Amino acid sequence: MNFHPESPLLQRIVDDLAERGWSRQDVFLPAELTAALAVECRVRAVSGQLEAAAVGRGEGQAVREGIRGDRIQWLEGGQSESCDVYLAIMDALRQALNQGLYLGLEDFESHFALYPPGAFYQKHLDRFRDDDRRTVSAVLYLNEDWQPGQGGALRMYLSDGEECDVPPLGGTLVVFLSADFPHEVLPATRERLSLTGWFRRRGNGPV
Ligand code: OGA
Ligand code: MN
Repeated sequence: MNFHPESPLLQRIVDDLAERGWSRQDVFLPAELTAALAVECRVRAVSGQLEAAAVGRGEGQAVREGIRGDRIQWLEGGQSESCDVYLAIMDALRQALNQGLYLGLEDFESHFALYPPGAFYQKHLDRFRDDDRRTVSAVLYLNEDWQPGQGGALRMYLSDGEECDVPPLGGTLVVFLSADFPHEVLPATRERLSLTGWFRRRGNGPV
């Protein structure tokens, strides 16, 4: 797949971020790649590689299902072809954001996330209090045939006091400025898969 930083799709995301701080692309990835990533996530789940996600950082880090109930695994390059294609696309997006918005994004960290039925993630901001490197959040959904009655929306709290619910339909990408948008994951009636990641700037404080 030929995703270069100047591609119109990536430029739309850059323009949205410049205008309103967030972007929603309903058809970001071709269905075959989304399906391959979903298979990858399920294989990791059944082979026991996903772990309960923690909240907080350092010594304050703990698993608290009353805050977030997803299971995750961090991605590394070279693990599978589909993951490497995804990472290459996100790197093109990183370059596009740097060229268009001068964000100085240095790297991208991401994990698979699986929310069992009923799991949720309470309203939060993605930027840690003691670490301001996370600058742009990007969530890609991997769920085929998501139906309106199945819940599981990403609820975005927008700057004008409005809310926007995005259903986690396979191939949809949501990108937003990490420090500016509180958001939450609503419970669903079925398993909910995603790849969630953060573009990070160089840090000032302790790592
Ligand atoms: C997160 C998060 C949103 C989603 O992992 O920090 O907010 O829709 N995920 O999965
Ligand atoms: Mn979040």
